[in-house]
Amino acid sequence: EEVSLQGYEHYMLKEIYEQPESLKNAMRGRLDEENATAVFGGLNLTPQQLRSVERIILTGCGTSWHSALVGEYLIEELARIPVCVEYASELRYRNPPIENNTLVFGITQSGETADTLAALRETKRKGHRTLALCNVVGSSIAQAADGGVYLHAGPEIGVASTKAYTSQCCVLAMLALYFGRIRHLSFEAGRNIIRDLQQAPGAVQEALNCNEHVKTVAEKYKDATNILYLGRQYNFPTALEGALKLKEISYVHAEGYPAAEMKHGPIALVDEKTPSVFIIPQGTTYDKVMANMEEVKARGGPIIAVASKNDPHIEAVADDVIHIPDVPAIIQPIVSVVPLQLLSYHIALLRGCDVDKPRNLAKSVTVE
Ligand code: AGP
Repeated sequence: EEVSLQGYEHYMLKEIYEQPESLKNAMRGRLDEENATAVFGGLNLTPQQLRSVERIILTGCGTSWHSALVGEYLIEELARIPVCVEYASELRYRNPPIENNTLVFGITQSGETADTLAALRETKRKGHRTLALCNVVGSSIAQAADGGVYLHAGPEIGVASTKAYTSQCCVLAMLALYFGRIRHLSFEAGRNIIRDLQQAPGAVQEALNCNEHVKTVAEKYKDATNILYLGRQYNFPTALEGALKLKEISYVHAEGYPAAEMKHGPIALVDEKTPSVFIIPQGTTYDKVMANMEEVKARGGPIIAVASKNDPHIEAVADDVIHIPDVPAIIQPIVSVVPLQLLSYHIALLRGCDVDKPRNLAKSVTVE
């Protein structure tokens, strides 16, 4: 079925702008305020199975692997269940010991990625319960898994995944809430998490206001040949995702790193021609990331900062600042990725690249 551009120049831009709506759809009917938890219709697990989960494996490829990293932070923080994140392409050929009472989630937009399908089949064959966190209804992975959660993001046509990523982060936050509430998480804490999640669509809408400014930032940095993306905690996966978006559609080399890891190698790349994008919203590691930023500045590296609005210190250090709303930590990855999606979009356009169909890439990788 053909999906129209509805006046947008590219599917990628349309899908970036659809995020307030796709996030609402991911949450619709799933937030139970009365019990301060989330509800899912298709997990197909008995209460006994749910309570006895001792480990969760999150697996996927590319952008879906990045959302798995966000899920690791969320589930460990809110539900206190140990999480392993695995590249599906590695998991399928490794033979890791997997304890009983382990749940395996395959995270995938398309539901057709060959490695993710094979990794789920292999773990299922060994007797573990497999679940799909998937966008495309009735896809191969949705069918192969024992149960799962749909993203309800609507069709994603652009090869660069945008709205599926933020919906994956959102669903993983709801799963973390759900598992937390059948364990130690209090009613009050659950209610606060629901309130945090409900802010996400509006905050993304506000973050989209940065588009015109991001265009001017893209103009300034479009000829860079290397860009570093740096963030910590919930925004470390954001750094990886920002770098992947830039690589895949603009063909500019980019690396994402945990900001503090920079001094163990990547800082050697910093010079006046190598910009660094710092994802530095308010939060517990703000001062630490600021210190990393000052190290880059001292070495002459241009700095683009994605920072909370009203941050009084950022302008003094960064060359360019992109403001995002100040939001609770658990929804930061959903909000802070938006300017990075737009930055890669505008740099790719300015470099004359085919944004929706980048060279050498397919929307879903159905072969090994
Ligand atoms: C994302 O922008 C990429 N095109 C790619 O990394 C993608 O996320 C990966 O191939 C996994 O696809 P899936 O989510 O459909 O399984």
